Amino acid sequence: MVQTVSAVIGGSPVQGAPAGRFPSTNPARLDEVVADVALGDASLLVTAAQAARQAQRAWAAVPAPVRGRAIAHIGRLMEANKERLARLVSREIGKPYPEALGEVQEIIDTCDFFLGEGRRLYGQTVPSEMPDKQLFTFRNPVGVVAVITAGNFPVAVPSWYIVPALLCGNAVVWKPAEYSAGAAAAFHELFCRGGGLPPGVFNVVYADGQQTYAGLEQALDAGLVDKVGFTGSTEVGARIGELAGRHLQSACLELGGKNPMVVTANADLDLAVEGALFGGFGTAGQRCTSLGTVICHESVHDEFLIRFDRATSAAAVGDPFADVLYGPMLDSRFAERFEKYLGWIGPAHRVLGSTGIGRITAANPRAGFVGDPAAGLFYHPTIVDGVRPGDEIFDQETFGPLVGVTTYQSMDQAIELANAPGYGLSSAIYTNDAREAFAFRQGVSAGMVSVNNSTSGAEAHLPFGGNGKSGNGSRQSGVWVLDQFTRWQSLNWDYSGRLQKAQMDVAELTPDLEFRL
Ligand code: UN1
Repeated sequence: MVQTVSAVIGGSPVQGAPAGRFPSTNPARLDEVVADVALGDASLLVTAAQAARQAQRAWAAVPAPVRGRAIAHIGRLMEANKERLARLVSREIGKPYPEALGEVQEIIDTCDFFLGEGRRLYGQTVPSEMPDKQLFTFRNPVGVVAVITAGNFPVAVPSWYIVPALLCGNAVVWKPAEYSAGAAAAFHELFCRGGGLPPGVFNVVYADGQQTYAGLEQALDAGLVDKVGFTGSTEVGARIGELAGRHLQSACLELGGKNPMVVTANADLDLAVEGALFGGFGTAGQRCTSLGTVICHESVHDEFLIRFDRATSAAAVGDPFADVLYGPMLDSRFAERFEKYLGWIGPAHRVLGSTGIGRITAANPRAGFVGDPAAGLFYHPTIVDGVRPGDEIFDQETFGPLVGVTTYQSMDQAIELANAPGYGLSSAIYTNDAREAFAFRQGVSAGMVSVNNSTSGAEAHLPFGGNGKSGNGSRQSGVWVLDQFTRWQSLNWDYSGRLQKAQMDVAELTPDLEFRL
């Protein structure tokens, strides 16, 4: 069944397709169209921002606990539709069904966290330095939030922005990835129905990258957008951050990663292999938290590699509705880019992990493949041993099923290698020595650190975000994201009936500073 998808602005579906139509296909069965998407243009984004602007004040006036109830209802509706939405996610982007269920669970978890925040959203009472004067702080909504998200987590990651943004009293314009528009439309409908959101509070527009950037620029110029949230590549994130900066805004950026995993001399190697397998090849290596490079102590390198190769070679790849480690690439653009990354493998590297390199076909088969490889965009898992700084494979994010392996001698060197690519999203260390774990935590540039756990799979209520090429220091999730979607306002109220001047009209007690015991 082909779903027809179009923008929804001010509560009404938009007729027509100003920028044409886009077929969102199933990457595991390329002849199956999942959604027929009407694409908008820059001006449609501006229209959506106007609708959001119009609706925002009234939404902010709804008491926060009532907004929290809306989030509660959205969470319950997500729960009731969990399997349906997960199936749609698997069909549209090829994520294995159990992972897609986990993805929907991440929305439910996020709703569970923020429904109570509606009854907190605390401000403070602060003592004044003068009598008959009170000080307070309030969290105010930012206003209109534009959210632009990738399709590798087509519903969970958007919820990280949209749930707290709405809870805090903002109105939202969301631009999801075109290749996950079917799942996005379902998500949007669940929010609007479950939340009973007034028209214009949550708008969705589908558009390509160029039109989105142009529309965002126009909306910012017109003063219609107060905050931008973006999840995607480092390159685009830098442009969005620059655009927001020109309007004196700081965007909430969640960008790429080259996530390191250190395997120390005393690590439990089987556990490390399990972590590398899931971190490196789960979601076909298409998470921003996916494992980039294993940094292995030289004394365990050979044994780790033997076991990692064995586990990777034995892993099931194929039909995302079967019991597999991973399915296809998200979309053809990711497959094309991955082919480019494979071209970075050089003569100094040794390739392991599969019966071939590149796209899995009848002529380039993968032992144990589940299903028909010709039907979709399936790629061999690829372990590249011997990567070093200066190699593109070591330095750059290689979104897809590719893991580099290198060696180290001292912990200082391991940390240096972990930080060398200049990203700083997620990281992991496998060790049984607390000193090593804490030295790594302190030295690594990443915003997230796992000890004896893989680089991917963060829980939904810890701060999520990165440094360096992975982001500008913004954090999502938990209480930390509230600072993205609210602005602190301070209030001082003097009821003394006279002008009491701060720092000047302040009483002082007389101390005896010469006193000694
Ligand atoms: C992403 O790839 O953009 O930590 C997010 C994880 C998931 C989220 C990944 N919970 O791997």
